[in-house]
Amino acid sequence: MGSLRTRFTEEFGVEHPIVQGGMQWVGRAELVAAVAEAGALGMITALTQPTPEDLVKEIARCRELTDKPFGVNLTILPAITPPPYAEYRQAIIESGVRIVETAGSNPAEQVAAFKPAGVKVLHKCTSVRHALKAQQLGVDAVSIDGFECAGHPGEDDVPGLVLIPRAADELDIPIIASGGFADARGLVAALALGADGINMGTRFMCTVESPIHEEVKKRIVAADERDTELIFRPLRNTARVASNSVSREVVARLDAGGSFEDVRELVAGSRGRQVYEQGDTELGVWSVGMVQGLIDDVPTVDELVQRIVREATELVRGRLGSLISPTA
Ligand SMILES: Cc1cc2nc3c(=O)[nH]c(=O)nc-3n(C[C@H](O)[C@H](O)[C@H](O)COP(=O)(O)O)c2cc1C
Repeated sequence: MGSLRTRFTEEFGVEHPIVQGGMQWVGRAELVAAVAEAGALGMITALTQPTPEDLVKEIARCRELTDKPFGVNLTILPAITPPPYAEYRQAIIESGVRIVETAGSNPAEQVAAFKPAGVKVLHKCTSVRHALKAQQLGVDAVSIDGFECAGHPGEDDVPGLVLIPRAADELDIPIIASGGFADARGLVAALALGADGINMGTRFMCTVESPIHEEVKKRIVAADERDTELIFRPLRNTARVASNSVSREVVARLDAGGSFEDVRELVAGSRGRQVYEQGDTELGVWSVGMVQGLIDDVPTVDELVQRIVREATELVRGRLGSLISPTA
């Protein structure tokens, strides 16, 4: 099997240009270690751990499962009682983790803490202007999340087909294309658009090692690309989640002029967590991307990564190569 070398694989010291982005309640040691073992870059999700001390333990647990490099995602979103971000940062640095995925807000504070400690920063954002700002602040690479993505697509609604080449035109640092990727076709397309690799959330959620209930994985396989809802649109804090009775009720209440208070109970993080633990996909809101329409199986992480890389090289050498006429 050939391998794909990009600025990202070189600078981040990983074998394949594939990242598993942070996923609340899903990004735990067993998934991240499996991604690392497969030669891709996994991220433990810091805020899935209730305290910075628990994060230290989760990082140690991941190290017991793999000797290969992995990162930690630290997401900073608006919160009524913010988590102790500085303590989480300290836990990451003191654990000797060398790569962090930042997301959710301007990464100035994160860069100021992580860069002097020798930690590489991969900042995830949803617009070219935010990517440029992150580059100016000194991040090492940017993940650019198109409108297709699970979680927070931002408010500009620019899909990857436009957003990725726009980012590639403007930025000097490596770019990871994110949102809507699940297979070799997506990876080859991302590279053609000017990216140095892909980030996947939903696809990695639907693997053997993903620590969520089987019923949720079955639901992702059964669902199609139309089965997501955009909640919190009127609050300008849009999130793409699975379409179910709860998310549709949230959309209806906010569209009718409701405020956050009117949906607070429906969107509680603890209810989303129960979906993954109990396997009842109607218990709360849970993140998933449009790309579920392209997901038909639950492979091991290793099968998935090897399949994507193998089929990507075959696609470039085979179908794409054969399109070039001999006289060209
Ligand atoms: C279940 C789930 C939870 C997520 N939680 C987070 C999170 O806590 N922080 C974050 O930066 N991104 C989060 N994301 C977004 C992913 O890291 C990634 O950017 C996104 O899934 C890419 O789109 P895709 O699902 O189409 O691959 C989450 C995605 C999923 C599917």
